[in-house]
Amino acid sequence: MGGFHSEAAAGVSVTTDDPNWWDGAVGYEVYVRSFADSDGDGVGDLEGIRRRLPHLAWLGVDIVWLTPFYPSPMADFGYDVSDYEAVHPLFGDMADFDRLVSDAHDLGLRVVIDIVPNHTSNRHPWFVDARSSPGAARRDWYIWRDPGPDGGPPNNWWSVFGGPAWTLDPGTGQYYLHLFLPEQPDLNWANPEVREAFVGILRFWLERGVDGFRIDVAHALAKDPGLRDLPQHCRADESMHRTEAWMCFDHIHDIDQPEVHEIYREWADLAAGYEAVLVGEVYLLRPSQVVPYVKPRGHLDLAFAFAPMHMAYDPSAYRRLFGRFTELADRGIAWVQCSHDEPRSVTRFGGGDLGRRRALALSVLMMGLPGVPWLYQGEELALEDGKVPVDRIVDPVGRIHPEDSRDGCRTPMPWEEGPGMGFTTGEPWLPMDDRDGGDTVAVQKRDPGSWLNRYRRLISVRHEIDRFARPDSIEWIESPTQVVAYRRGPVLVMANMADEPVAVTSPPGKWQVRYSTGRGLPGGSIPPTLGGAEALIAVRD
Ligand code: GLC
Repeated sequence: MGGFHSEAAAGVSVTTDDPNWWDGAVGYEVYVRSFADSDGDGVGDLEGIRRRLPHLAWLGVDIVWLTPFYPSPMADFGYDVSDYEAVHPLFGDMADFDRLVSDAHDLGLRVVIDIVPNHTSNRHPWFVDARSSPGAARRDWYIWRDPGPDGGPPNNWWSVFGGPAWTLDPGTGQYYLHLFLPEQPDLNWANPEVREAFVGILRFWLERGVDGFRIDVAHALAKDPGLRDLPQHCRADESMHRTEAWMCFDHIHDIDQPEVHEIYREWADLAAGYEAVLVGEVYLLRPSQVVPYVKPRGHLDLAFAFAPMHMAYDPSAYRRLFGRFTELADRGIAWVQCSHDEPRSVTRFGGGDLGRRRALALSVLMMGLPGVPWLYQGEELALEDGKVPVDRIVDPVGRIHPEDSRDGCRTPMPWEEGPGMGFTTGEPWLPMDDRDGGDTVAVQKRDPGSWLNRYRRLISVRHEIDRFARPDSIEWIESPTQVVAYRRGPVLVMANMADEPVAVTSPPGKWQVRYSTGRGLPGGSIPPTLGGAEALIAVRD
């Protein structure tokens, strides 16, 4: 990414002399409701984020993704948008947004905003018009069908959140499609007016200075024109775990349709004029499904790789996954192990000290790869999921299946000790009383051995090595089965994924450790054993 990071460190404004400025960057997801609250209402807001930007600049990340802050009835906490060109009063106003972007740029940070194009809120004026009558001007902006022969839904499609993907609109006697909640009707992307409307929305934000978009549900916009039934292997019903029910179907007509790429071709042309980055939430797990979305085959700059959030802590599985991705994609993958949609990786990996060490070791593996490693807020503190009692669950998914609730990963950032933990002076919207001083930014910042300082050093080493670790080809190193080790040019990355120490041999040549989660000292040579969940990055001397 050229000299971008060092300029950032010096506090110089973002320059636009490199159209691929995002290449080699480190991303960071801010879940707007839970980052920082400036007005004491218990919900995070844009001004709160602006005041905490120095933390992100200090941490060394380059791109800040803001989850949706638009007007919304909040059926899905902002992923049900009722106006794409305004700020929800809960989060502030347009002046707050402008100040946030401007301060971020002064700190050398880029701002990527969330765009939600697969569906709107059912209270968006477009849908209010569409459902008003079969002949309404915007009727065809959504997907309507007559009931099936038995009066039920027109086909067997299923919602990601559980239940049939169709809701009957009694007023007009037709069903409308929603791949998520009934409050999130899917737009009809086959209609050129919808495409035109979104080009206008993207331009609106680009003109306001945003540096790119994270595209929500990027793989689902286009649907099979015939809305054909999906092949089905088992009976799906609403009492099942939502993923289990979703897996009863072969999703060959509802998502990942070829027409989706046409949409992004147009967006990429627009984004190029502003040197903006397009990052897709392509929620498909196989590398061969994700890679066609990114350049040079597709049109997006980056797509998240979500598979690491859905697999066991298994060295051979990681080796296969990273191997396949890096073989197929150039530098278009954004590596994640956490988000606002899944339990935090520390929790998934068993929690406690071991869970934390495992999460950091996986981060080390990701930080050595080409592409863009991406952190979720609080990952730098090695947070476990917050504890949310069942009667405090607000996530629409968790209200149906509490064990599947997304609230645990969404509890507010603990900034400092004391009531509200520096997040709010009021009552936080989700409980955070299970956090202690050791979880906070303030306490961890003072301790050189804290998780926060370890993540910060890792990010700094990542920037350093990414500059010279070219070309990108990855060479997997023969190692004990518990160990994942690869070379990328003059850089060597090794992680022991077992809980027990394991003996390792250094590849030929002289290597100097640049980063270690354990006993390998920076500047030293590769130690003969790696401790449980220990990882390191070395460079050829
Ligand atoms: C994405 C978001 C998730 C949201 C869903 C529907 O997966 O990350 O939070 O519920 O889209 O918009």
